[in-house]
Amino acid sequence: TVYPNPIEASIAVAARIAKLIRDKQAKGQNAVLGLATGVTPISVYAELVRLHREEALSFKNVITFNLDEYYPMQPAAAQSYVRFMNEQLFDHIDIDRANIHIPDGTLTQEDIVAFCVSYEKRIEELGGLDLQILGIGRTGHIGFNEPGSAPNSGTRLVTLDDMTRADAARDFGGKQNVPAKAITMGIGTIFKAREIILMAWNSKKAPIVKKAVEGELSAEVPATYLQLSDNVEFILDEPAASQL
Ligand code: GLP
Repeated sequence: TVYPNPIEASIAVAARIAKLIRDKQAKGQNAVLGLATGVTPISVYAELVRLHREEALSFKNVITFNLDEYYPMQPAAAQSYVRFMNEQLFDHIDIDRANIHIPDGTLTQEDIVAFCVSYEKRIEELGGLDLQILGIGRTGHIGFNEPGSAPNSGTRLVTLDDMTRADAARDFGGKQNVPAKAITMGIGTIFKAREIILMAWNSKKAPIVKKAVEGELSAEVPATYLQLSDNVEFILDEPAASQL
């Protein structure tokens, strides 16, 4: 679906999330959301905060799982995804803190595998992801599933691609300061979501959006795996869709 600009697209995505939350509320159930970081979803989170403040949207029945976190990363660091999520969304809504899950960037290497297994297990115990929102990196990564990621991959520690680290350099004051690794949900984890929305704005994303949507299925562009799912929608602004 193509919108004229990111604001209209973000309002539409936020409205979908709000409907899911309210429908679940009406049935006395939780809504389990998979959330993303990056610049792309900021306007969606801003609209959700507005809906909370102005239209009484409650997040009391919402459980969240974030896609990824840099490794190593302290939650209080300026670049942490914990901090990002607090600032963009969680500090401004009525979500129960116990319902928030973000991969832990403070673990020792030995504890990461057990953590990743428990992250997957927790998602399943809570009934699976109702909706996963995604951005897309210029390498074609979703979450931090870089080129080479397997379609059935689970939550794990990965090595970041050079282009991804270059794109993050501004946030870290230079590429040399960007962590070499990250913990990310796998492609397989993402695929289990009952609904997936990938968002992309801006002409800079046009080439990778074209590859993801129209390119040959390839581990070199992990987002092409989304072509295999019936539950995926790309929501784009006109510039991001301009090469389709
Ligand atoms: C980061 C995140 C991804 C995100 C991507 C694109 O690498 N781990 O989940 O989709 O960047 O970010 P942006 O939305 O800032 O372009």
